[in-house]
Formats: sequence, C-alpha cells, structure tokens
Amino acid sequence: MTTPFIRPRRLRVSAGVRTLVRETELSAADFVFPLFVVPGTGIKEEIASLPGIYHLSPDMAVKLAKEAYEAGIPAVIVFGLPEYKDEQGSSAWDAASPVQETIRQIKAALPELVVVSDVCLCQYTSHGHCGMLNGEKIDNDSTLPLLAQTALSHAEAGADIVAPSDMMDGRVLAIREKLDAHGFQDVSIMSYSVKYASAYYGPFREAADSAPQFGDRRSYQMDPANAREAIREAALDVAEGADMLMVKPALAYLDVVRQIRDNFDLPLAVYNVSGEYAMVKAAAANGWIDEKRIVLETLLGMKRAGADIIITYHALEAARWLQEQ
Ligand code: PBG
Ligand code: ZN
Repeated sequence: MTTPFIRPRRLRVSAGVRTLVRETELSAADFVFPLFVVPGTGIKEEIASLPGIYHLSPDMAVKLAKEAYEAGIPAVIVFGLPEYKDEQGSSAWDAASPVQETIRQIKAALPELVVVSDVCLCQYTSHGHCGMLNGEKIDNDSTLPLLAQTALSHAEAGADIVAPSDMMDGRVLAIREKLDAHGFQDVSIMSYSVKYASAYYGPFREAADSAPQFGDRRSYQMDPANAREAIREAALDVAEGADMLMVKPALAYLDVVRQIRDNFDLPLAVYNVSGEYAMVKAAAANGWIDEKRIVLETLLGMKRAGADIIITYHALEAARWLQEQ
C-alpha cells in the first residue's frame, strides 16, 4: 500500500467549495450593540476614545437602536451616565435615570429588539468602585441588595436581560431572587461570569466616567493569569441560576472562551471590549490595516473559539459589511 498524496488544497480551489466546507459563520444575528446614554434630549456626541461610538440622550439612543435592528442586530446593551453620583450609587436604581428611560423608550418603539442592561454601580458611585466601601475595602454582601435593586429597576423599565458586571460573589442569586419576588421570572440573567481585571477597559472608563477614584478592581475582578478559576466562577453562576455566561475581555482570553464552551452548555457571550476596539480604530485611522477584514476576522475568531454572542462596538459596521458580502 502506498500512502496517497493528500491535498487539503482541493477544498480551497474555489469560492463555492470554500463556502461549502466553511466551519464557522459570522452573522449580524450574533451581535449585541452597546449604547452609552446620558441625560437630556437631542444629544449625540462622539466619544473621543471610541471613534464611531456616541454619548446619546434616550431619544437619540432609540434612533441608533432602530438602525441596529434594521441591520439585523437582535440586541443592544445599555450603559448609563447618571445625573448624580453618591457613595451608594443610588442613581443606578432611579427610575428617572437615563438607562431606565432609554429602556422604556426602546421597548415602546421597538418591542422586538432585545434590550440588555448592564448592572453595576461604578458609573453611579462617587468613588467609582463596583461595590460598597468599608473603609478602602470593597464590601461584597452589602452590595448585593443594591445590585438586585438596580436589576429590578431595569426589569421594571422593560429590560429583557440583565447583565451584572460587578464581580461580587453571590450577585446572580441575589438578582434572581429579587426578580422572581417581583414577578420578573422571564427576565434573563446574562452574567459577566469571567471578567478579568484588564487594561483593555481603559477607553470605556473614559466613556462611562467610571474609573475608580482610588486603588483598582483587582480585589473583585479576576487575575488575568487564571483559567481554572474561570471554570469555577462559571460553575457558581450556573448554580445560582444564570441563563447565559460571559467571558470578558475577548481577544486575550480566547483560550478561556474555548474552555468555558467545552465545560458548560449555557449560551456563551464574549465582550469585545473598548480597548480592543480602540486599537483597531487607531491602526485603521493610520492606514496600517484593512479595517473591514481585520474586524471580521477578529469577530470570526471569537465565534470559532466558542462564543454564541458577541458584544462589540463594531456591531453596526460589521453587520453592514456582512450584508455587502
Ligand atoms: C462596569 C463595566 C466595565 C465594562 C463593562 N461594564 C468597566 C469596568 O469593569 O471597569 C468594560 C467594557 C469595555 O471596556 O468595553 N463594571
Ligand atoms: Zn462596575
């Protein structure tokens, strides 16, 4: 028996054959588009650190949400910059804050568009941390009821999915119990299960005015060195009743995405974060890369690693590029 001469190139000979054997497909239906909302009306101001992304008043957020919906994107995630900040972050659960107002307006105008709300306190606390302070420590258990209250206010405004990003222990259970006690059994929890203490959040903190005023987030967000711990975090969220899991950031953590995918059956989201977006935009602005190809290749890599859902600032542009193809 002679060994046959194997030619993998046969499967690459034409666009048609390549289409036939393609293993992974990227689609606008995978995307969640982030919106940053501010108080007021008629406001649409580009965010310097995130070119192409805007601070929007609720009315303008609805317009952009409509564009996303029409481009085939099934969901938006809403982040807010509040009118006021205090020690507790009480504007986070104020029904009059921009996030709650935006959720109400989007659900009224576009009932089919899925609205995800980011549940955290860092944009709302005077100290910029995601939890309550006890001296200079971030106190876990006193934060839980405030996160639950915030999630409830989002559900009352009409959110379909709440997404806690604070990394306190036990928050998924606290939120689930609060939602259920108020009749919101059908509101899902997309947990930021595996969220690393990352330098890639830099542009977001400028966009959301949420940088910690002292210290850093390393006592609650994960150490970038750890992957086994990611499995443990995800398992806890599953046990507490999370409906979907998330890994964040995406690009430097695709090995973790693959491990979470292989270990759990829940839908898995990745967050292609602000720093990942800003790097691509900066290189593209300098003419150093082919932006469209880089973005589609990067997002495809996230899907190949095992993501079902991609939260990305590129969503609207990428959805339009995919339509052209
Ligand atoms: C708030 C939050 C952050 C991001 C999403 N929710 C920032 C942080 O934890 O400091 C980051 C998103 C991005 O960088 O695009 N907890
Ligand atoms: Zn936070």
